[in-house]
Amino acid sequence: MWADSSGRQARKTPATVRIVMEVLHRNSSEKLVFLETFGCQMNENDSERMLGFLKDIRYSRTATPENADLIIINTCSIRDKAEQKVYSILGRFKELKKENPGLIIGVSGCVAQQEGATLLKRAPHLDIVFGPHNVHKVKYLLSEAEKKKRVVAVEFKEGIDEDEYACERPETGRKAFVSIMRGCDNFCSYCIVPYTRGREVSRRSADIVAEVVSLSGAGAREVTLIGQNVNSYGTGAGGDVGFPELLRKVASVDGIQRVRFITSHPKDISEDLIRLFGAEPKLCRHIHLPVQSGSVRILKEMRRGYTVSEYLSKILLLRQLYPEMAITTDIIVGFPGETDSDFNDTIELVNTVRFDNIFSFMYSPRPGTKAAAFDGQVEPETRAERLRVLQERQKEITAERNMELVGRTMEVLVEGVSKVDPEEISGRTTCNRIVNFRAPLEMNGTLVDVLITRAYANSLRGEQRERSVSCY
Ligand code: 5AD
Ligand code: SF4
Repeated sequence: MWADSSGRQARKTPATVRIVMEVLHRNSSEKLVFLETFGCQMNENDSERMLGFLKDIRYSRTATPENADLIIINTCSIRDKAEQKVYSILGRFKELKKENPGLIIGVSGCVAQQEGATLLKRAPHLDIVFGPHNVHKVKYLLSEAEKKKRVVAVEFKEGIDEDEYACERPETGRKAFVSIMRGCDNFCSYCIVPYTRGREVSRRSADIVAEVVSLSGAGAREVTLIGQNVNSYGTGAGGDVGFPELLRKVASVDGIQRVRFITSHPKDISEDLIRLFGAEPKLCRHIHLPVQSGSVRILKEMRRGYTVSEYLSKILLLRQLYPEMAITTDIIVGFPGETDSDFNDTIELVNTVRFDNIFSFMYSPRPGTKAAAFDGQVEPETRAERLRVLQERQKEITAERNMELVGRTMEVLVEGVSKVDPEEISGRTTCNRIVNFRAPLEMNGTLVDVLITRAYANSLRGEQRERSVSCY
């Protein structure tokens, strides 16, 4: 079944009914875009900007490719057989193009950046290929395709031009991502991002604040500042203040009740930033701090720039200052040369830190990265088994940590109707846990105190309480 990235529309109404409704409601000059997004928050943000630019030329989103005038696949190449996956998705649209030769099909994102013109060669029904630095050109690329030209835009830009962000986002909800920088200069040995998203460059703080003001005006109550390595915001090209100062500026925007950020690099997180959690009440008590491995040797091979003990000392400081703060991480298993003993070090680290949650991945060799050429590539079966063991252990820890919250009253920002029970509403705690509870939908977008009554694997259940003092 086809769905947009939230899956919402596709679940509610059968596809045929929806197509007829869309056709009936459509003004003759309106067009429809089917956009499917893979990967990280940066890609989500790029997709939102595409929709914003396309809105200028009367495109609105459809959840079904069958009635679309334009199809865009926004791709991710961080893991797996990303390129094959894209070709197989494109294959599904071949018939649609035959039935409707006016249909325009595009591929954007990191696979587009990596493959470039090869994609056009291998998929003759594809019209447009564009990388992450060329999102703002979507209208121009579309106009070229309408003239029956097949176009590729994968050139890198050095700086950031604010025109790239000059669009009104059509799907602003209570929560919004705001991109504060792009690219990455770290070149971790396993990672494709520096090759697909280019060198690190920051946006100016005034431009970021202006975007947050506009999002707040459109109803957003929570913003998440995103970048590959937000802790180095403003230290290289672009940017005029450091990251803690940027957070203060964003938190001072009227209407914004919560501020989050992702992703932090353990080598760059400063004590200044750690202290800010205590000084800025709008800053959510959650940090995502990817460790990648618990083995000193593997971390070195990964070129992460910190040791296990340096990582642990940052965790210790965070836990001492904010015992209730949620800490999550990313872990890769089966990196080249990883022995059973290295893997056990990772399990030991997970047992020591007791992360609230982890995102864990099997190492996947990426073309052109240093690690892809390393000796000692680990067998796929061993990688899969290590992933299973790690995930099992983390499941237990997450369940235990969720249980610890039962009986506590927590502040929840209401985000809408619960996905599991339409009679209930749903929101998140400052530590980013989902809480479902009974209350009127008019509470959407407000902060509510909720007594946690039950804990599940991935969510909490609660009962609304009288609003009292602010609590975490
Ligand atoms: N193989 C597996 N996982 C990877 N990640 C990045 N590159 C790879 C790779 N080649 C993971 C890291 C990163 C997350 C976004 O994706 O854990 O933090
Ligand atoms: Fe990739 Fe490392 Fe940059 Fe993260 S910090 S995007 S893992 S190179």
